[in-house]
Amino acid sequence: MDKFLIYGGEKLFGTVKLDCAKNAILPIMAASIMADDVTLLDVPDYLDIQNMEKILSFLGIKVTRKNKVMHISTIGLNNYFVPITLAKELRSSIFVLGPLLSKLKKAKVAYPGGCEIGLRPIDLHLKGLQELGVKIEESHGYIFCDGSKMKSGVVNLDFQSVGATENIMMASVLLEGKTIIHNPAKEPEIVDLQNFLNSLGAHISGAGTDNIEIIGTSRLGSTTYSPISDRIICGTMLIACAMCGGKIVVENARPEHFFSLINKLQKSGCKINLNNDKITIESKGKLKSVGLIKTLPYPGFPTDLMPQMLAMQTISKGCCVVQENLFETRFKFAQELLKMGAKITIKDRIAFVCGVKNLSGADVFAHDLRGGAALVLAGLCAKGYTTVHNVYHIDRGYNHLENTLSSLGAKIIRQSEE
Ligand code: EPZ
Repeated sequence: MDKFLIYGGEKLFGTVKLDCAKNAILPIMAASIMADDVTLLDVPDYLDIQNMEKILSFLGIKVTRKNKVMHISTIGLNNYFVPITLAKELRSSIFVLGPLLSKLKKAKVAYPGGCEIGLRPIDLHLKGLQELGVKIEESHGYIFCDGSKMKSGVVNLDFQSVGATENIMMASVLLEGKTIIHNPAKEPEIVDLQNFLNSLGAHISGAGTDNIEIIGTSRLGSTTYSPISDRIICGTMLIACAMCGGKIVVENARPEHFFSLINKLQKSGCKINLNNDKITIESKGKLKSVGLIKTLPYPGFPTDLMPQMLAMQTISKGCCVVQENLFETRFKFAQELLKMGAKITIKDRIAFVCGVKNLSGADVFAHDLRGGAALVLAGLCAKGYTTVHNVYHIDRGYNHLENTLSSLGAKIIRQSEE
């Protein structure tokens, strides 16, 4: 178990080049089950990716990696079972359901794990698969799926669930006929999954809109693909600079993926310059509250940047209402910010934050991935030393965050818990 030791107060200067997105790579790795072989470029070393590799290997699939190039070969696929020991490590383990049903017409998968930010049910995944004719039994923590009678059809999603949309897309690509998904999630990672599957020979259109159409094909071949860059890491770096002050450039970015954040950073007093795939932010570290943050499905303000943005409001002049609409219990990190002198009142899914002049360093504990990142950002601009414990939560979605921040001038080191 590792921790971060941070000495706050340094401004950030320099350039960060984004790797590809955790939440794009994970469904793409699962979708590779349906292909012959796949080469993925710019793949970083997140813990979640290592755990997805373990799942694919357990299924008999060969995954090799050289630097940031990952090669996946499915010729050895000989299993449709994912045990709890592997499934519990990440939310994305549930993404193998659709591809296994497509390829083998059956699956036995344990319930997924993932950040403890809410109940995180999978009812929309299962309901969508049942609407495609999958027979499902749930018992003893396992989901048994029989896809022998699957057929294309129409799936109406009650909520724009990212994972359910991806699972149903993947379950449909090899089904004869046309499948339509109404009310899908519209995140950029969904569009990326569509583009990846189409590069394998699938016929999908409409990702990013209110209806996705999948025309089934008989098989998927091979491809070399570079998933989209990580918009959440990009946002995390921009907010870090806003809080600490300084000037950084984020490269390989897709500004069109988060104008909601860029507008808020400008409103808080930062200068932003957009130049193709480069975003430059300049901040004096003196920020104004943005007043209201409401998380919504894409293109609304992303829930995965709420913790980082809330941390920013703790040192912004004025008060802010933060409404978390996607997950039931995503404010655990805010309790840790109180130890640093933040002024936050929480009631259910609403946090009321009033800015203070300075946070002060403290011993704080990460409880989930993005909440942990928010604690790091708070430590970077707090007075004195901050220790962030349980860094493995952060390693699930950031590749040595301490190195990226140090390269920008932050005083942060990784230590093992004694
Ligand atoms: C994906 O999770 C992301 N994870 C999450 O990022 C992200 O926060 C979330 O989408 C929303 O954008 C990956 O892509 C691996 P959802 P997912 O299904 O698919 C409810 C991070 O930090 N719901 O869109 O699990 C659910 O409880 C992670 O990188 C059901 O009720 O999100 C939640 O309230 C955290 N039934 C809401 O929908 C279901 O069957 C959104 O969930 C599925 C979801």
